[in-house]
Amino acid sequence: MSTQLRPTDVKRLNRQWRRRTEGRLALLVESVTQPYNLGSILRTCATFGVDRLWLTGNSADPDDPKVGKTALGTGAKVAHTRTASTGDALAAARGEGFKVVAVELASGAVPLHAAPLEPDVCLAVGAEDHGCSPALLSGADAVTYIPQIGRVGSLNVAVATAIALAEARRREWAAFGDEADAPVGR
Ligand SMILES: C[S@@+](CC[C@H](N)C(=O)[O-])C[C@H]1O[C@@H](n2cnc3c(N)ncnc32)[C@H](O)[C@@H]1O
Repeated sequence: MSTQLRPTDVKRLNRQWRRRTEGRLALLVESVTQPYNLGSILRTCATFGVDRLWLTGNSADPDDPKVGKTALGTGAKVAHTRTASTGDALAAARGEGFKVVAVELASGAVPLHAAPLEPDVCLAVGAEDHGCSPALLSGADAVTYIPQIGRVGSLNVAVATAIALAEARRREWAAFGDEADAPVGR
């Protein structure tokens, strides 16, 4: 019977995955204004080992107490840099050797499973109301979208971020097969 891992087992499991994960992953957040969304994004960044985070546009402030409600203490684990413009954020990501892949329902975008997400990749997500700016879409090396089959316009930005970051990590982890099963609970 499967049972939930204890916190110490989860820490050990996380450590195993951390040791075997080599690809660098980054995120560019453009004008995500809702603190709860940013907090959720920060927690996902900490979960998947995002190395670098750029905030641009009028993105919420990571130090806003409302961000902490969903970041749950993980915000401090992700170093972030705020840039004056999207162009500056793109240049900074490139300067650190990342390919930038914008995540957006946009013309010319490729579905997520076919996107060039190999390391070192910086994913980029856009605003809750108007999505990624034209500057971000035209400045990115590639654009990818998450296919949807329901009658919905789009995903919540924090959820879209989590799906895309998980897929980027999955590409590397898939090579391990099932050799890193979770430990048997006691
Ligand atoms: C709520 S959506 C933006 C709304 C939409 N562009 C509009 O104008 O109605 C916020 C962000 O979430 C991400 N997103 C949401 N659903 C997505 C999907 N199916 N594929 C790719 N990105 C998505 C994108 O980064 C987008 O900029």
